[in-house]
Amino acid sequence: TWTTHNVVEEQVALIREQVGTKRAICGLSGGVDSAVAAALVQKAIGSQLTCVYVDHGLMRKGETEQVEKDFVAATGVQLKVVDAQERFLTALAGVSDPETKRKIIGREFIRVFEQAQLEILQEDGPEVAFLVQGTLYPDVVESGGGTGTANIKSHHNVGGLPDDIEFELVEPLRKLFKDEVRMVGQELGLPEEIVQRQPFPGPGLGIRIVGEVTKDRLDLLREADAIAREELTAAGLDREIWQCPVVLLADVRSVGVQGDGRTYGHPIVLRPVSSEDAMTADWTRMPYDVLAKISTRITNEVADVNRVVLDVTSKPPGTIEWE
Ligand code: XMP
Repeated sequence: TWTTHNVVEEQVALIREQVGTKRAICGLSGGVDSAVAAALVQKAIGSQLTCVYVDHGLMRKGETEQVEKDFVAATGVQLKVVDAQERFLTALAGVSDPETKRKIIGREFIRVFEQAQLEILQEDGPEVAFLVQGTLYPDVVESGGGTGTANIKSHHNVGGLPDDIEFELVEPLRKLFKDEVRMVGQELGLPEEIVQRQPFPGPGLGIRIVGEVTKDRLDLLREADAIAREELTAAGLDREIWQCPVVLLADVRSVGVQGDGRTYGHPIVLRPVSSEDAMTADWTRMPYDVLAKISTRITNEVADVNRVVLDVTSKPPGTIEWE
């Protein structure tokens, strides 16, 4: 019979058999899949696993801390955090084009992650031969079903390493659907905030700032997003709403009035959507009083924002994200 307990027992045995006495690396993104995959592997092989978390500075409020503190506390995993915030900001300076932003974030992410892998390879200990990935059943079907290997090339001038290192993949979630992964995560005692997290794009808040990404704009958007999330949760809407991107129109300003002064600030867009699989979506007809609360709080509490607007576009023709 299918129980999360049995799934965990079975996977732990398989992972032990696969990895043996060697070491494994796992990249954590803050998302559900990589967290559950890492927790399973940690349960199986303990200190033979090292996780890597790249802090690109594009996460929402509290998310990096959830990984650094809560996830580590729940699993006891060995975690290497790379603070790459400055590096990402520098690489993104002056860039407004959405696809260029995505390419830069993806490229920098791979570079930083590979550098971290090389550092782990150079530590004393058994051979590092495995890379853990949170591949789900739908991903397996979509990509044709093969299991694989991953290469890293040492183009970073790190001496004494082979030119090309090949990892074997460990993919303990290959037979599971998303809701099953959440149940397994729960069984493993992971924090609710991680297990129940709604989808969040890899490029993070970088693609929710329309315009150039700067530290100040990220901080501003983080505040607005935190308020929206807090109120949606308080209203019990987390399950009804698939996700609610909060977008900063950084290149737009409009006139407003606050106290006895004129303001000239930025709009924040709320994009609550209902969906089954993100391929299509509709804008969520959410209660006006919740929208009103979010709007009042954002314009009162977030400096330089004087207007909140609601995106009422379905997908298609709109995408869920603005970039
Ligand atoms: P769109 O904007 O294409 O988004 O309607 C569909 C779903 O995918 C998420 N998304 C991403 N997820 N990396 C991800 O891991 C990405 O680059 C990315 N871009 C969009 C988006 O949040 C939505 O759930």
